[in-house]
Amino acid sequence: MSGQNSFDVIVIGAGPGGYVCAIRCAQLGLKTALVEKNPRLGGTCLNVGCIPSKALLHSTEIFHEIKEHASSHGIIYKGLQYDLSVLMKKKDGVVNQLGKGVRSLVTKKGVICLEGTACILGTGSIQVKDGKSAGSYEAKEIVIATGSKPIELPFLPYDGKCIVHSDHGIAFDEVPSKMAVVGAGAIGLELGCVWSRLGAEVEVIEFLPEICPQLDPEMSKVARKIFVKQGLTFRLSTKVTSAKIEENKATLTLESEKGTDELPVDRVLVAVGRGPSTDGLGLPEAGIAMDERGRVKVDHAFNTNLSGVRAVGDVIHGPMLAHKAEEDGVACAEIIAGQSGHVNYGMVPGVIYVDPEIANVGLSETQAKEKGLNVRCGSFPMAANGRALATGATDGMVKVVADAETDRLLGIQVIARGASELIASAVAHMEYGGSAEDLARTIHAHPTLSESLKEAALSSDGRGLHSL
Ligand code: NAI
Repeated sequence: MSGQNSFDVIVIGAGPGGYVCAIRCAQLGLKTALVEKNPRLGGTCLNVGCIPSKALLHSTEIFHEIKEHASSHGIIYKGLQYDLSVLMKKKDGVVNQLGKGVRSLVTKKGVICLEGTACILGTGSIQVKDGKSAGSYEAKEIVIATGSKPIELPFLPYDGKCIVHSDHGIAFDEVPSKMAVVGAGAIGLELGCVWSRLGAEVEVIEFLPEICPQLDPEMSKVARKIFVKQGLTFRLSTKVTSAKIEENKATLTLESEKGTDELPVDRVLVAVGRGPSTDGLGLPEAGIAMDERGRVKVDHAFNTNLSGVRAVGDVIHGPMLAHKAEEDGVACAEIIAGQSGHVNYGMVPGVIYVDPEIANVGLSETQAKEKGLNVRCGSFPMAANGRALATGATDGMVKVVADAETDRLLGIQVIARGASELIASAVAHMEYGGSAEDLARTIHAHPTLSESLKEAALSSDGRGLHSL
């Protein structure tokens, strides 16, 4: 095989897990190729996930804020409108710009990009097909970073028009008048809010008795009440059992303890989780083992059972989040280069980018107790924070969970405007083994929303200064 088709590392998939892994490999002096079938790099996160949804969330948040709250600031407007096509163009522009940025970054770091669909032939060998031709490549190490795709419910097959998943839900050409969202997870809540802010009547159907199960029940309830205030409706402990589609409208059959009900809607956004994306990779043929959920099985060094083949990101175990995939990618590259690499999956923050944002890291009180830990908790309502009051951001709450014996921080939950940024200091405290006392004694600027973290930590020891 010619030198140009031979690499130290070939990474398959250019999402945050794959392209970051490739960059780190190149930085470490490894001859690296990155295979991607989509002409634009960046994977789900950049093309149809994190980035476009955040652009839509921001645009609709501005609209909603002006519509609902401008007058209270003495800002008077007449005839407030939005233009959906401009809003979508803005989102597409962000995606395009960032896509170009990622390609330029990867190329300038010395990574060779190969366009096409990769299939693993065995240890050290892959084929890349680009529609017209197929090329063979070899590498000492192959890294699978092919990400995830929306799970489909058997009785709600996606048609891209009436029954849709998140890829479609970021690109509607008109606002549905009535939309059902199946699943009150991150995707359902974020996209539910986007379309609700633009005027859709949004009903969220959740199988579990409460939304946001990563939070403690009282925090989930705070979040749900805020959503309800914003116009969303919820059917909890409810499952969809079938759908009838007629003239591009759906009638869902819902079942709960109360009985069976029918829900007629224009669109159904199904957001019941994502599953690993491995189609066409040739994993069964190559003898690569998967777990019971179809994810690639790996050990602590990201090794699959096939020598020289590793995997990172959504396609393996752990939270399906872009930042976790990036950390996997970096650790995997460093291990390949002979260094030590490790990702602390217990310290991966999660964020739902609604308004106020919902962020968490570590264990909830419920999870800590399930582990048999003795905990001490403190909370602080955003309504008691001066900056929140001054800026109309009083919805929300912060909760700190600490070990009752050692005071070590076990988890932090934040429902607050800007929680995605506030959680960063919580993660840092916890990553360094910080205690509630450490957080409570850390000086936070006044007036800031971040003071609510300090106050929640103080209140875990009955020392809250600005709450009763
Ligand atoms: P999810 O796993 O976060 O939530 C799915 C929800 O659907 C759960 O609450 C579950 O109980 C419910 N559910 C499952 N089956 C159901 C059924 N038949 N009927 C009614 N409810 C049902 O999944 P989601 O929101 O689709 O997100 C997928 C992945 O993408 C997650 O890992 C998520 O963390 C990640 N993601 C993260 C984002 C962020 O960090 N902001 C944004 C978007 C996605």
